[in-house]
This record gives sequence, C-alpha cells and structure tokens, in this order.
Amino acid sequence: NGEMKSWTGKAHDVFSPVCVEKPSGLSRVFVGSYPVCTEVEAMQALDAAEAAYKNGRGEWPTMSVSARIKCIEKFTQKMLEKREEVAKLIMWEIGKTYADSLKEYDRTVEYIYATVDALKDLDRQSAGFDIVDGIAAQIRRSPLGVVLCMGPFNYPLNETFTTLIPALIMGNTVLFKPPKHGSLLHFPLLEAFAECFPKGVVNTVYGRGANIIPPLMKSGRINVLTLIGSSKVADQLKKLHPKVNRLRAILGLDAKNAAIVTANADLDQAVKECLTGSLSFNGQRCTAIKIIFVHQDVVHTFNEKFVAALKTLKLGMPWESGVNITPLPEPQKPAYLTECIQNAIENGAQVLNENGGEVNESFVYPAVVFPVNEKMKLYREEQFGPVIPILPFESIEEPIEYLIESPHGQQVSLFSSDSEELADLIDPLVNQVSRVNINSQCQRGPDVFPFTGRKDSAEGTLSVSDALRSFSIRSLVAAKLTDQNKA
Ligand code: G3H
Repeated sequence: NGEMKSWTGKAHDVFSPVCVEKPSGLSRVFVGSYPVCTEVEAMQALDAAEAAYKNGRGEWPTMSVSARIKCIEKFTQKMLEKREEVAKLIMWEIGKTYADSLKEYDRTVEYIYATVDALKDLDRQSAGFDIVDGIAAQIRRSPLGVVLCMGPFNYPLNETFTTLIPALIMGNTVLFKPPKHGSLLHFPLLEAFAECFPKGVVNTVYGRGANIIPPLMKSGRINVLTLIGSSKVADQLKKLHPKVNRLRAILGLDAKNAAIVTANADLDQAVKECLTGSLSFNGQRCTAIKIIFVHQDVVHTFNEKFVAALKTLKLGMPWESGVNITPLPEPQKPAYLTECIQNAIENGAQVLNENGGEVNESFVYPAVVFPVNEKMKLYREEQFGPVIPILPFESIEEPIEYLIESPHGQQVSLFSSDSEELADLIDPLVNQVSRVNINSQCQRGPDVFPFTGRKDSAEGTLSVSDALRSFSIRSLVAAKLTDQNKA
C-alpha cells in the first residue's frame, strides 16, 4: 500500500550458492534477510490492492493511458539508477554471472520501453470506430482487477516484470511475491514503486509461498493468477480459487524442449547451438534444450564434437569474466541431478565426458549422458540443470512420437541442411510445440515474439503486445446510428 511495513514477524535468511571455506568446511555466503509476511499481512496487501482497484473505479484503472505511461516511465528512470546494485544481488542470490545479471536487468528495461510503445499502438487502434449494421463500435481494452504475480528464480527480475509491468500498465492492481531464490534483489526497487504509483497499486509480499499464497487464492478475490514456474504448483493454486472458471491464468510452466539433429545437419552448427541451448545459466532455463535426439548415422561424431566443445567451458565464480558454469542456487539440485545420472547408468547409459556430473558443494560439472532411453528419469523429467541426455534415432517418427506423447509442448530445435527435409518437418512439429527453431537453439527472445506453450507448458501468451492483451479484456462501446448522430 505504498508503505514499508515495519518488520514484526520472523526473518528468512538468504544464502548465496557461492560458498566460502570455513573451519567447518565449505559453506554458503550469507546475503541478507527478508521479513516473512504472516497470512494476516498478506491479506492486508490484498485489501490494499482491492481498495486501489475499487471495482474498476479507482484512480489507477480510470487513469488515462498517457498518465499511466508517465508513471511507468518515471519508474523506469528510477530503475536505471539501481542497475548495478540489483545486478549484484541477482549474481549473489542465484549465482548468475555478473555479465548475465546486467543483461537480465537491461533486457527488463528494454522490455518495459517496448511495452510502453506497444500500448501506444494499441491505444491508437482503440481510438477508431467500426460501423457494422448501423452500429458504430469502439473496441477498448479494460483491466481485469487484482493480479497475483509470481516469477521464477532463474529470471527473478525479468520474468517477474514481464508479467507485472503489462498487468500494471493495463490498469490492474498487483500483488507480487518475489521468488524464494531471488528475493532481496527486489528491495532496491520497492521505494520506486511507492514513489511512482498511487497507493495500493503495487503491493509486495515476502515470505513462504506455501503459507501466504493459498489464503490469497482461497479468498476468491484474485482475478488473475500469473506464474512463471512449475505446472504442478500452478494446478494446485488454481484449484484453491472458489470460482476457478472466473480466474484468468497467465502461466509459463514446465518444458522439456528437444533438439532433433538429422543425418543432414551441419554438425558443427548443431553442436554449437545445442551446447549453449542446453547449458546457458547451467541449463536452468525453461527454454533450455533438455533432451537431444541425434540420427544414428551421425550420433557418434555429434557426441565427440559435443564433448570437445564442452571442454572449452569455464567453471568459476559468477563475478569472473568468461565463466560459463556457476554454482546452483537450489540446495537440493546437485543430489537430484546425481540421482538422474545414477538412474541412467543403472539403465545402460554412460557419462561421456570426463568429470561429468562431479559435484563440489553447489557446483555440478555438466554431464553428457548417452544413450538415454524411456526407462530413465532423464527421458521425461525436466532436469533444469547441467545434464544433457542424448538419444540416437533411426526414423524421424521416433522424436515426433516423443513429442506427441510428451505432457509438454514449448519448443523444439530442428537441425538439418536439407531445405526439403526442413519443409516436410515443420508442420508435424509446429502442431506439437509453440515454437520451432530452425538450426538454432530454443529461446524466448526476441521479446516481441509471442511466448507460450502447448499442453502443460503454458496458459495464455506473454511477450510485449501479447501480454497487454492477456492482462486486459476487450470491451465494446456501441452506439446505434440515428439520422442525428451519423455525422
Ligand atoms: O526460463 C525461461 C525463460 O523464459 C527463458 O528465457 O530463453 O531468454 O533464456 P530465455
């Protein structure tokens, strides 16, 4: 509600994935603490968001588009002053390299500017009238109400703001909970929210999602749920809403993106794209390539080249330059990845690269696992980490069948130098996933492209102009033409 609430409850200590040597052994660096909201405080934040929305009659939802844009632009100006401070916190909290943390920050600012431009376009389009059957109609976009917004740890700033900003700019009021890993970095911006927006328009709740989010959902007073995170959590939260069919959900969820390398592929190109596609930010991206199908005639050459390319990656601390492999923020992740590798070995696979899967506290050295089959965890589970499962295939029907049976449907990377083969494969693939990348890795950007997924991978569409539509409703002002008002 535009005020920093005094810290009365418990504190949660945040530890970095970066470890230091202590007499007791390696231990995670303490970064800071945040207050843990109680259920009552979370409900107060909801009251504030609801009061500011005031059933669509509040200052914010009735403000002109240009006035709302001014608030967002003022906020963006303030954001620019916090660039290094926030980027350093991203680095410490989630182990992203400092260079990539700065990129995340800059990308977010660019995203906001692009969203403002898209809104200006949308506003221009809404200014006109359509005349049909003697009725003049103006189509507007109106807000939906209170939006509960939650982002993931891997893009704690960017993917929180890619929902929060469009939700706000369309006139909704927002309640947002920063991710568990990637929460302190939001503090430097809270004051800017308070300075740039009317009271109650942006409300931030800190704490354990499992305690504070269910009561918010059960209240039935959340109009839009937006979450970039796990499909399971999204399902659980939606079910808590008493009028689930009145809840709009804009969700970016689990994905198990496949790369398909045909016998006609340029293998050097495929290796280069699959390497960054599977290992950028240690594979902790929803868009990462999480399984690679390679035609049996070229699989051994592909594997040799892939392992050689992997050797060039540098492991190190996130502030060091040129580093690719950094510590993982989720404390349970190294054990989970080890279990996946073990399970693959028990079912007949091998780790192809030296040191693959080696764990040193929060570091996991990438592992190339081959040949993977349907009995293994790595076949279907979204590992979300630096383990690369590779499968040989004989017929292209095998990877297509894999996609058809998959509960996920975000993206695919297809590698071939044969244009006829590419042309034949695009349709079968585009009917399974929401983006087919030709001879390139899977990714979200450029951010103006629609970002969504089929099946359990998404609900609604994000990106710049799609998000504006997602966080609003089309409404119509219709006037019957009479002889007097025709002019
Ligand atoms: O984690 C999911 C992100 O949307 C991935 O974005 O492809 O730009 O890394 P990216």
